[in-house]
Amino acid sequence: MSNGQADIGLIGLAVMGQNLVLNMADHGFTVAVFNRTVSKVDDFLANEAKGKSIVGGHSIEEFVSQLKQPRRVMLMVKAGKPVDEFIEHLLPHLGAGDIIIDGGNSNFQDTIRRCAYVESKGLQYIGTGVSGGEEGARNGPSIMPGGSPAAWPHVKDIFQAIAAKADGEPCCDWVGENGAGHYVKMTHNGIEYGDMQLICEAYSLLSAVGMTAPEIAEVFTEWNKGELDSYLVQITSEILAKLDPETGKPIVDVIQDTAGQKGTGKWTVISACDLGVPVTIIAEAVFARCLSAIKSERVDASKLLKGPKAVFRGDRKKFIEDVRQALYASKICSYAQGFQLMRAAAGEYKWNLNYGGIAQMWRGGCIIRSQFLGRIHDAFGGRKKVVNLLTVPFFRSATRKAQGSWRRVISQAVKLGVPVPGFMTALAYYDGYRSERLPANLLQAQRDYFGAHTYERTDKPAGQFFHTNWTGSGGSITAGTYTV
Ligand code: 6PG
Repeated sequence: MSNGQADIGLIGLAVMGQNLVLNMADHGFTVAVFNRTVSKVDDFLANEAKGKSIVGGHSIEEFVSQLKQPRRVMLMVKAGKPVDEFIEHLLPHLGAGDIIIDGGNSNFQDTIRRCAYVESKGLQYIGTGVSGGEEGARNGPSIMPGGSPAAWPHVKDIFQAIAAKADGEPCCDWVGENGAGHYVKMTHNGIEYGDMQLICEAYSLLSAVGMTAPEIAEVFTEWNKGELDSYLVQITSEILAKLDPETGKPIVDVIQDTAGQKGTGKWTVISACDLGVPVTIIAEAVFARCLSAIKSERVDASKLLKGPKAVFRGDRKKFIEDVRQALYASKICSYAQGFQLMRAAAGEYKWNLNYGGIAQMWRGGCIIRSQFLGRIHDAFGGRKKVVNLLTVPFFRSATRKAQGSWRRVISQAVKLGVPVPGFMTALAYYDGYRSERLPANLLQAQRDYFGAHTYERTDKPAGQFFHTNWTGSGGSITAGTYTV
């Protein structure tokens, strides 16, 4: 293949990188590849890439020389320093207008910094979320690109060709400037944590009433035919049905109950705290992973701390339906929170996010793909402004219908001593969000009592602050009024 013929280059031949390259080649694009361990280039060319429109470079120079202009270089390398290192390796070999694309799970703040830096060198930068794991990368991921707007026309055809499709539309579109794409990917991962936690709580409750993994697998198979139709529910039914070849037991019963996390869910919660947005379900999902990880402490505590001895004696079939409704209602709250977060971020970082478009990007290819996202896409379609998904008629009616089940399931969990932090915090969010008055009046009084932080009054215009000399001995000096 003569030089300068590759439509795009990709650096990083781990599983995701290789599968994206093969997907691009399958869609008629010529791809140049490079890898820090150069021998991987030869292995790839001699095996998976054999006979395809894929060429390889044995040095950055050779790799860059194989690219059409404007050169497009996609990095599929570990988030963090490796991305900065490859940017530095590439800059001397690229020219004005060339495009560097980071397709890893980078922190959006890093992408904001890198975008400004690369643009200062006369090049363009894209930070894109790529969701769907190795299967998605190979057969159609969800792609969420952001960064230098002028770069989008040069990668749009490639990304939209390889992306998953939903109703014929690509699950890929331009998200917004600088870190917007990685922010949306981060939020996707946060919502993914929430979905996974809620599913695990449903599994935990059904186990607590005596159901076996294969029996619960059948329940999830049924649930996957209705409102909960989604990739995560589908794989859960497969996981619960799978037997361990070594022991013959359900494999889920022999897997250690200590969860890992690479950090994108944590980043979501940190950003939510910075922006003052209650993403309580994602936060509980992150902390549930942390609690699961202190296994030895939990084993010791299980011998010391006693809980209820209650045994479930209700109608199992009815309980299963209640759990399904509770899972659905909690999921609605989690997505409502996630979209609230993106809206706050858009305000903070001056992004013009298209929420219906984001729902479209998530309808296929990504880990949270589901029929439910079609409903969210519709909810944003055509509406001027959705204040909160909970107030959209479709979701308002769904949560109203689920209320009884939701509250019965939580009280049953309390009676059985089964921890369901996701279900509980979702209901607390729902009850809090629909409350005209919350107990923060007392909280303001407490703050004013010990810190003279002042408070507003219900019978005076907003913005007027008052202080009470609660003890009769304090002075009239008040603390500066500010909210982080
Ligand atoms: C995706 C996934 C992926 C994620 C892994 C591990 O969208 O394809 O979200 O990006 O990094 O699933 O995530 P955790 O280790 O944080 O669970």
